[in-house]
Amino acid sequence: DLHKYNILKKMVEFIPPKYMNLLRLLGIYGSELNMPVYVVGGFVRDLLLSRKNFDIDIVVEGDGLKYAKYAARNLRTTFVEHSEFHTGSLFFKDGFRIDIATARTEYYEKPADLPKVELSTIKKDLYRRDFSINAMAIKLNSEEFGVLIDFFGCKHDLDRGIIKILYNLSFIEDPTRILRAIRFEKRFNFKIENRTLELLKDAVNNGYIEKVTGMRLREEFEKILNERNITESIDEMGKFGILDHLFLYSQYKKSKLETFEKVLKFYQWIKKNVPKYSYKVKLFHLFLYSYLVYEEEQAALYSFERYGLPKKFLNNLEKLKEAILQLNKLNTYSSYSDFYKIVENFDNELLIVISGFIKEEIKDKYKSYLLKINDFTLEIDGKDIMSLGIKGKLVGVILNEIKMKKLDGKIQNEREYLMNFVRGFNESI
Ligand code: CTP
Repeated sequence: DLHKYNILKKMVEFIPPKYMNLLRLLGIYGSELNMPVYVVGGFVRDLLLSRKNFDIDIVVEGDGLKYAKYAARNLRTTFVEHSEFHTGSLFFKDGFRIDIATARTEYYEKPADLPKVELSTIKKDLYRRDFSINAMAIKLNSEEFGVLIDFFGCKHDLDRGIIKILYNLSFIEDPTRILRAIRFEKRFNFKIENRTLELLKDAVNNGYIEKVTGMRLREEFEKILNERNITESIDEMGKFGILDHLFLYSQYKKSKLETFEKVLKFYQWIKKNVPKYSYKVKLFHLFLYSYLVYEEEQAALYSFERYGLPKKFLNNLEKLKEAILQLNKLNTYSSYSDFYKIVENFDNELLIVISGFIKEEIKDKYKSYLLKINDFTLEIDGKDIMSLGIKGKLVGVILNEIKMKKLDGKIQNEREYLMNFVRGFNESI
């Protein structure tokens, strides 16, 4: 059942010489140590699809650590060992990195645990992988450099655009693959094969998502948020019940997706027009704010704890709810200071999420508010006010008052305004 195709020609055409030379060297080192060496996984898949991806994952049959140290010495790179998994990484000076693993059979102590490792051959290594499209290797040893190794009809699936698991327990052993299936399906516009889809749904409905650590799930979910077809992926995850299991006690609704789409669109606008407000913004947070705001507290608490959300998350949800109520009382004639009063000292993420919930008619005004406040400065500060003999809380009150008046274009020269204001104030007492 092993198919071998020579794809050297494709490699020469597609892979830049810099990487080609590196791959050849990696093969030579293998031959010098008498070990078969392969490049595997996404690199091979993307090469066959003519998609640029130069993340090099190497698998060695034999002592991978010995190989990695040997390669590191020859290439003069640093080597970082992850001994527990029989893997390691070579780091080049420019930051480029190559991962090296020993061919292995992963077996799992209990479902959803991280793999325990047992040494084995390339076929078993490939068989333990997520989907057939990711389970091909290219041999790198000089004699066979450029030979595609395909045990499971993987290339056939890739050519037909099929996402297929290689063994029935695949989703059970590693439930993060549920998310990966969706991601690859949408990225490549492929189809999840029928039986694979049945097993995926079984794993979801039987609660296997809940058995994975929040961190691993978050990582895979964030990868989906970084793809181009976010909406399609989210809708599918919703329909398959994946979101309900990821974010327990909440319920997927199409309207939530529509809200999130608005948020995403607004986020693009922010990045282009007021990039300052995109600083430290995380898509995952934007998603959860918009997704959980109207859910029961239990839902927010669950995700907060499971996914290591920032401390202020729960409090921000409350602020968000309140702000939505207030903002939707505004209209096209509202002034900048009306916006200011509501969203003053909101963090960037909240400023963006808000956009998913406000009426279309005030959205433009909200945008121009953000542009306005973005390069807004006051020429006076608290010290100026105190130097006029005013003390305590009143300083802040006056400063704020002047700020809002200037925002609304009601004063041009705030220094002059302040002098008059204080004069009037002193006369009145
Ligand atoms: N893999 C797996 N099961 C997982 C994660 C990864 O079997 N849960 C295997 C696949 O063979 C995959 C390889 O490890 O091709 C590398 O994984 P990763 O870098 O996460 O994905 P890529 O396939 O390289 O995808 P991407 O293009 O998104 O980087």
